[in-house]
Amino acid sequence: MLNRKKVNKGKGKLITFEGIDGSGKSTQIRKIKNYFLKKNIKNIYFTREPGGTSFGDLARKLLLNNSRISPANETQILLLTACRFEHYKNFIDPHIKKKNIVISDRFEDSTYAYQCGKDKKLEKLLNYFNVNLFEKFRPDLTILLDIKPEIALKRLKNRKKNNHYDNKALAFYKSVRKQYKKLALNNKRIKMFDGSECQNILFDKIKNLLLNEINK
Ligand code: TYD
Repeated sequence: MLNRKKVNKGKGKLITFEGIDGSGKSTQIRKIKNYFLKKNIKNIYFTREPGGTSFGDLARKLLLNNSRISPANETQILLLTACRFEHYKNFIDPHIKKKNIVISDRFEDSTYAYQCGKDKKLEKLLNYFNVNLFEKFRPDLTILLDIKPEIALKRLKNRKKNNHYDNKALAFYKSVRKQYKKLALNNKRIKMFDGSECQNILFDKIKNLLLNEINK
């Protein structure tokens, strides 16, 4: 595309989107993609987890497409962390070094919320890897879409293709939501939005926050 503009003058950043399945993440990310495309902005890169690399895409298939395979939470943490490290080394970090903006559909908070739950031992395991593999690297901004699992599940029922995690019970999503809220309370980088709000109003709010972060 000709004359594509750079959006940020300063440093590269990682911005992440989080929320339970059916929280409206994908819709908001799609709107943001279209917005930056229309504005002809060139140095924003969209990615997702599990995924973002060939290794991550293979692991995504293994984790999400097969309900007959249900590995232990520890195994899931190991696999998801391995994917994240590949993603970080081969995609996120090189872009940040080039002063680009990376927007990821899910990152480390998903593993806290989905795999660790309230289990301190699992949290310790994940923390160990986070500290030793990623050191002080964290997203610059995290947009958390909070929604009642009852509403999210209704939305998921209307979707054609549900993944293996989508089919978990209401109690599971209640716990995931609780963990996300706990993370938001303890981390200033996490900004929480009401995922049940009108999607266009929500988009305006998220867009403003994003532009503000990018232009910092
Ligand atoms: P998502 O990409 O939001 O699903 P969709 O393809 O329906 O938009 O998320 C994929 C699933 O992976 C979701 O159910 C949450 C799960 N997941 C974890 O359990 N732990 C993780 O660390 C990550 C990154 C995802």
